Amino acid sequence: MKAIIRTESLGKYFGQMAAVHEVTLTLQEGLFTSVIGPNGAGKTTLINILSGYMLPDRGKIYFREKEITRLGPDKRVKMGISRSFQVMNIFPRMTVFQNILLPVLSRLNKTSSAFSSLQSQKEAVEEAEKILGEVWLQEEKDSPGGELSHGDQRLLELGIAVASNPQLCFLDEPSSGMTPIERIKVLELVKKLASERKTTFIIVEHDMDIVFSLSDWIVVMNRGEVLAEGKPGDIRENQEVRDIYLGEEI
Ligand SMILES: Nc1ncnc2c1ncn2[C@@H]1O[C@H](COP(=O)(O)OP(=O)(O)OP(=O)(O)O)[C@@H](O)[C@H]1O
Ligand SMILES: [Mg+2]
Repeated sequence: MKAIIRTESLGKYFGQMAAVHEVTLTLQEGLFTSVIGPNGAGKTTLINILSGYMLPDRGKIYFREKEITRLGPDKRVKMGISRSFQVMNIFPRMTVFQNILLPVLSRLNKTSSAFSSLQSQKEAVEEAEKILGEVWLQEEKDSPGGELSHGDQRLLELGIAVASNPQLCFLDEPSSGMTPIERIKVLELVKKLASERKTTFIIVEHDMDIVFSLSDWIVVMNRGEVLAEGKPGDIRENQEVRDIYLGEEI
């Protein structure tokens, strides 16, 4: 197996608070990886650092062995890294279709009218249509993003995240606010996209049933540090992990 992203002693500190501390990880291409841990464990901060939305105070990040520690999010998107957010991040007044088309156009580098031949515009439109179908939003195509149901807005976020055609995609709680049935459906969709698009997904998820049934690899964070990582079976048996999830089914 090949590492898709690797970190060395990452640290991010807010005053005295270590949001992320000494995080050294190697995550493998093609493994469906979940990052779990209690509220405030540092999961979002880690995703922010790995996707370039926050600079670490310490440590290094390598994407396919190329150092990216201080690259901004736009440069990372161009290299094939994208993400979705824990809090909704769509353009509410633009239609569902426009929300998807924008990142597609930006990837195809056809945003400037000087470059936009009819053919290339057609290509972008076709691709955006395809993505709409992949995330089950074909029928909502012309609705403003902000008028979709909560669950559909999360699907739209997923569509936006894959529209840049990433090799590596971070999803921060893609199923938050959904019903248990919707959660399973959306995470199964993510798994399907992973295999069809050959995208490596690293997700943050609170639903332990989903995490343990769908993940190939689990990283457990607690108080900014990696408490444990491994296959679901091994994580389930880990006493330290069981202790921090005391009272919850894992
Ligand atoms: N911009 C910030 N300024 C100050 N403190 C922050 C900032 N961002 C995060 N923190 C703190 O860092 C710690 C880790 O937060 P983070 O959001 O990464 O946790 P999380 O594991 O994603 O939690 P949750 O499950 O609630 O989403 C928390 O104590 C949080 O209050
Ligand atoms: Mg979070």
